[in-house]
Amino acid sequence: MTERKFKAPLFEALRKYKARKDASFHVPGHKDGQAYPCMKQNDDTLTGVMEIDTTEITGTDDLHHPEGVIREAQELAADLFGAEETFFLVGGSTAGNLALILSVCTTPGDVLLVQRNVHKSVIHGFMLANANAVFLEPQQDASSGLMTIPSEETVRKALHRYPDAKGLLVTSPNYYGMGASLFPLAKLCHANGVPLLVDEAHGAHYGLHPDLPKSALEAGADGVVQSTHKMLTAMTMGAMLHVQGNLLNVNVIRQRLAMVQSSSPSYPIMASLDLSRGMIQSQGSDFFTEGLALVEQLIEGIGDLQRIHFLKPGASGDNDAYSIQDPFKFVLYDEEGQWSGYKLQVTLEAEGCIPEMSDDHYVVLALSSATSQGDIVRLLNALRKIDHLMQVSTWNIENKEDIYDDTQKGLDIEVEAEIDLDQGNSRYAEAVSDKVHFDLRIVAAEEIESVRVEECEGRQAAEMIIPYPPGIPILYPGEPISARTANQLVRLKYAGAKCQGTADPTLTTIQVHRIGTAQDGQRQGLL
Ligand SMILES: Cc1ncc(COP(=O)(O)O)c(C=O)c1O
Repeated sequence: MTERKFKAPLFEALRKYKARKDASFHVPGHKDGQAYPCMKQNDDTLTGVMEIDTTEITGTDDLHHPEGVIREAQELAADLFGAEETFFLVGGSTAGNLALILSVCTTPGDVLLVQRNVHKSVIHGFMLANANAVFLEPQQDASSGLMTIPSEETVRKALHRYPDAKGLLVTSPNYYGMGASLFPLAKLCHANGVPLLVDEAHGAHYGLHPDLPKSALEAGADGVVQSTHKMLTAMTMGAMLHVQGNLLNVNVIRQRLAMVQSSSPSYPIMASLDLSRGMIQSQGSDFFTEGLALVEQLIEGIGDLQRIHFLKPGASGDNDAYSIQDPFKFVLYDEEGQWSGYKLQVTLEAEGCIPEMSDDHYVVLALSSATSQGDIVRLLNALRKIDHLMQVSTWNIENKEDIYDDTQKGLDIEVEAEIDLDQGNSRYAEAVSDKVHFDLRIVAAEEIESVRVEECEGRQAAEMIIPYPPGIPILYPGEPISARTANQLVRLKYAGAKCQGTADPTLTTIQVHRIGTAQDGQRQGLL
């Protein structure tokens, strides 16, 4: 990457806008923050942002018809990320996933191949598009039990069985920063004349430094969605949709984006996308050098710990499912399996180190180019303390005397038939599913009943259950509930997991179709 002069046209336009201090006779109504008395007291906590929170006026361009600074900023982004065209998103990767699906599934009943463990925005895209999903079994890393992308063989099978499929959509990397090569999947899709769409929400930084994994665009993906706000440095909701090749209709994408994004997109968010890209483009791969050095320091520090380890590819000896790890994501676990990821998270938080998320076994830490040396020292001190505590603690279910007050009841309660991570995912009865139709139909109240979560096995879900994070639906409406999923729900209930979309947020009960009223299993409704 060659060094370039820092250039951020949209951000510069807004800086000039702020400096001019013109009288605003346009929206937004806060009038560059003047609405708030704190601005007059030089407290710019919020109003600093509001001073550039403008709208489509002369000189600030229009996201939905870019001809000026937004167009230039998007072109510079396409250049950096290696796309033919880049669209700024102000509604996160969510907006990008919706627009991509709506652009390839244009007729009700269109089929799109998709891995089962996708973010809810993908399932919502199917609902809005009235489309059929063919779910592909993701590969499971035998050592960690975590899922990545479907195998080449599964994709080949699916493309053969569904020759009319409009494309394949996968998520890579996963929330844990794990992945496998996308090159073979792109090749297979292209040999069949269909696009590969990649939800790369967690990999906006990929491909920007030799020590970072290759990006989905480099692998040949046709449409790629990235949350620039997650692992790069844009403001929350700032994301990008990149396209290349001739398998996607860019005009339709543009039209779909206008449907799912506001006609008054946030200028601070768009400017932060421009700024984030500008910083990397001006510094080249050096932008990541310091952060990667800190990663090495952390690896070394964790290496001295007894109980706390982190996931690395190759532990199972089988690299197909998991050959790539984002160096900026650390997936920590207790080597002896006594502390859950939830408990690790609680203890880290008590030490002032706030993780990205946790599950039964793992806690995920997200670093970035903006992580400081002080952050790493603080984290290592906390980890050393917790590692020591793990060794000396007699903490168990009978004896809850711990220096940390475990407020999340039941964190370590074992329910019968705990998920055995080595058994494979029995939820995926077949590597390639039948067609599953999604639409926005609301299921009638008489067709639904609530059952205790312990008794839901074998029933058909009537609501979406989405633990957040990571936001991957465990159940979508209409999905038959397997024994494995039922057990997983019970564990989540005891773990006090936060679930979106459920009628009963405590997960004591879930909504299922009344026996005899369930649909044919092919038609799903949204509650
Ligand atoms: C895999 C994946 N895709 C898409 C999204 C949605 O991204 P955003 O929050 O930028 O809308 C998320 C959010 O966590 C995600 O984890």
